[in-house]
Amino acid sequence: MQFAQKHILDMESLSVEEIHTILATAKRMKEISKRPVKKVPTLRGKTVVLFFYEPSTRTRTSFDIAAKRLSADSLTLSGSSSSMVKGETLLDTARNLEAMSPDAVVIRHSSAGVPHMLAKMLNTSIINAGDGMHAHPTQSLLDLMTVNEKKGKISGLNIAIIGDISHSRVARSNCVGFKKMGAHVVLAGPPTMIPKGIESLGASVTYSVEEAIRDADVIIMLRIQKERQRRFLFPSEREYATIYGLTKNKLKYAKKDVLIMHPGPINRGVEISPEVADGPYSIILDQVTNGVAVRMAILYLIVGGVRDADAD
Ligand code: CP
Repeated sequence: MQFAQKHILDMESLSVEEIHTILATAKRMKEISKRPVKKVPTLRGKTVVLFFYEPSTRTRTSFDIAAKRLSADSLTLSGSSSSMVKGETLLDTARNLEAMSPDAVVIRHSSAGVPHMLAKMLNTSIINAGDGMHAHPTQSLLDLMTVNEKKGKISGLNIAIIGDISHSRVARSNCVGFKKMGAHVVLAGPPTMIPKGIESLGASVTYSVEEAIRDADVIIMLRIQKERQRRFLFPSEREYATIYGLTKNKLKYAKKDVLIMHPGPINRGVEISPEVADGPYSIILDQVTNGVAVRMAILYLIVGGVRDADAD
């Protein structure tokens, strides 16, 4: 199995064939996580640095677990515990990390374009774990895997992405990822949270959540990203929940076999009600499970599994 990419920076850079390769590899990797001993020697002797300059639960933990299940050494550095608090620049920090010979650096940063810059400046493989409002490719890949697993296909499905589109790197990466795999994507939310020109990613736009829900095979709800909002974009959380939140009442518009997804973390009672998040249509925790499998696949393909050994 050939995989030519040195980095994983965004969904635009991946071909349809490469996405198929990642999803097929992730399916095999998922089997490893079901074994009594969840570890294979595939990446023994390899080192993965997890450099997280923004908070994370799912992405950081799943990359760490993924590296360990493949026997790679992983270590985590957060912005607040690094010497960047003493004034060291990001590039100096990254060059110093590279001087310790890691095989890959997984980076999350609040500024768009940081992973791309590091990929140009360093020789190490760079994996984007979320950069500002720009891209979150591994989230998109795990979402594609989860939909494919549950629906048996991606092509031809209607995917509704609802909520704070403006601030969402997940929305952007999923727009590109699902379109590339042949799905139809509709973006919905308040006009203040849908950026002008977003249709250029190939999605259609509506300001009516009910309209977006009606035709959807899959609904991806997004978190209100208060930390990235420079001004209030809606009058109150209660009003947002009433008009744009996904509630059991709004599900009456949905197809009988609709799937509900959310990248997490969830603002319960704001963009999604607890009874929907925990209800029969929700596959939110399946997304988390598949996050480990997809990140194992990416580390395997990027860090050298393809060249060194088979995963079995
Ligand atoms: N989906 C996601 O990126 O979650 P975390 O911020 O917890 O990593």
